[in-house]
Amino acid sequence: MKVTTNLSQVFQSIFDTASTPRVFFAPGRINLIGEHTDYNGGHVFPASISYGTYALAVKRNDEKLRFYSMNFKEKGIIEADLKDLTFKETDNWANYPKGMLLYMKEAGFEINQGADILFYGNIPNGAGLSSSASIELVTGALFDGLFELNMERISMVQLGQKVENQYIGVNSGIMDQFAIGMGKKNHAILLDCQTLKYKYAPIILKNHVIIIINTNKQRTLTGSKYNERRYQCETALSELQDKLAIKSLGQLSPEEFEENKHLILDDINKRRAKHAVYENARTIAALEKLQQGDLHSFGQLMNESHRSLRDDYEVTGLELDTIVQAAWEQEGVIGARMTGAGFGGCAIAIVDSFKVDSFNENVNAIYREKVGYDATFYTATIDDGVKEMTEEC
Ligand code: GLA
Repeated sequence: MKVTTNLSQVFQSIFDTASTPRVFFAPGRINLIGEHTDYNGGHVFPASISYGTYALAVKRNDEKLRFYSMNFKEKGIIEADLKDLTFKETDNWANYPKGMLLYMKEAGFEINQGADILFYGNIPNGAGLSSSASIELVTGALFDGLFELNMERISMVQLGQKVENQYIGVNSGIMDQFAIGMGKKNHAILLDCQTLKYKYAPIILKNHVIIIINTNKQRTLTGSKYNERRYQCETALSELQDKLAIKSLGQLSPEEFEENKHLILDDINKRRAKHAVYENARTIAALEKLQQGDLHSFGQLMNESHRSLRDDYEVTGLELDTIVQAAWEQEGVIGARMTGAGFGGCAIAIVDSFKVDSFNENVNAIYREKVGYDATFYTATIDDGVKEMTEEC
């Protein structure tokens, strides 16, 4: 049976209704290269994947909202009201859709009836593949569809980021929501986070596949050092601005950075800024290499990215470093690096399709030996961004 048929039946039984829900889907994302550059006004190169979040809904005749997640069954149905969408600790995961609705309404979109909504996500929890941005965007698309709001995709993306920044309190950049909102099958997106100009690049990996490796180390962005990294970069930028007329670290070339780095007083902040500047240059170079079909150089840039995140940005840790180091040692590997915010979560590797089984086995053996538990391996499929699931899907 199709997953959507199955989910529709669950919807009808949870909400005790015979109505047929509309079904929407938002993917998760991986980032090929360009890490911790988005909030520094640099470039990122993410792609949306086939794992994601389904949302099924039927409009109500009152202003009530009833949320149910198959991933958090123990929380039962969480009720809210369109008239009161303030953050409530007890609403748990439902704060993400509530935040999205609040900001859509504040932005002037007319939503004057509630809905019963069922969520189901198959992105591994806490894996750093943007399950929260996926919930934000699927909520956006769902209400856009139900109320024919004709929202521009970019506003949906920006409102999703606002939920993260202002409602949840994580000072993240725009990459995740952008990748999920704008994703395209078999393409990655080179996005300039300063101007929001972007281009799609076909991902042609010849006989290779992208493997996603989950460290299975749980992490929460809010509790992590994410906001601290952002603050360190902002401090470095303001010191550079004493002399340079720049708006972001993303405007500096590595050469300009080297000439001016003495302006940054603190050594740690200097390393954080160095990563942001060099990573941005690597990301632009990576697109060129990919377009030239030079996979080897693309892989080298991925490896350098990981080293910089490990040594200068310090967001990797034992789990990610063990996986990436083990990946580098395997036959048929073009490149490997952590992906997303870091501090646990996932790594990605580009691996010869014929060597995937031995790759997974060997990397896991090394990981288990060193870390004490298993990693999980997925083959990534790059798929479309958020959309309504119609008969043809
Ligand atoms: C998280 C954030 C993104 C980005 C990455 C690091 O995924 O949500 O905005 O900063 O970390 O590149």
